[in-house]
Amino acid sequence: MNETPNDRDEAHDRHRVFFALWPDDATRSAISRATRDAVRASAGRPIAKDRLHLTVAFLGELSGAGLAVARAVPPIVVSGAVGAFELTLDALGVWPESKILWLAPSDPPPALGDLEARLWDALMERGFRGEERTYRPHVTLARRSRPLDAAVEPVRWTVSELALVESFPDGRNVHYEVLERWPL
Ligand code: 2AM
Repeated sequence: MNETPNDRDEAHDRHRVFFALWPDDATRSAISRATRDAVRASAGRPIAKDRLHLTVAFLGELSGAGLAVARAVPPIVVSGAVGAFELTLDALGVWPESKILWLAPSDPPPALGDLEARLWDALMERGFRGEERTYRPHVTLARRSRPLDAAVEPVRWTVSELALVESFPDGRNVHYEVLERWPL
């Protein structure tokens, strides 16, 4: 098929983006420390410490214009602050379908559900297609894991900001870039 320069531009004007909770360095280290043995036992492909995060809303591939719309959403979110909140990551498991080894809050705080709902309300008002699946907040620790039954020392995370993150292919991995952060 012939490609016009315009098509080519469009093909390059794609941004894989998501809103996420992006841990501070101390929380990153705590997650990594608490889950080291489980990651090893899972025999999966570990996610590097500097890429650990918890997705709030995955937007998928957007054009530059779509990204600009998403980026303009959170004053925070959309009026009336959510406020910082505590998250206790105290559950660990493997989803058999995706073979993802995850760390998650067994009892997610209402503030996280509120943040996710308010974000999607604002996004859908601006024409984004909402998430059909039930939101299962988690930090992915490894991929291609084998089934595992392990306990974890709980990690307490004071969540004080929301981030918009872009994902770039990087060989067999991905590279993440935080585009913007909003204090909660
Ligand atoms: P995962 O780690 O459970 O795969 C960047 O890819 C982030 O977006 C990851 O946290 C990933 O979750 C999440 N993500 C990727 N595809 C997704 C989808 N279709 N729906 C929801 N989240 C997705």
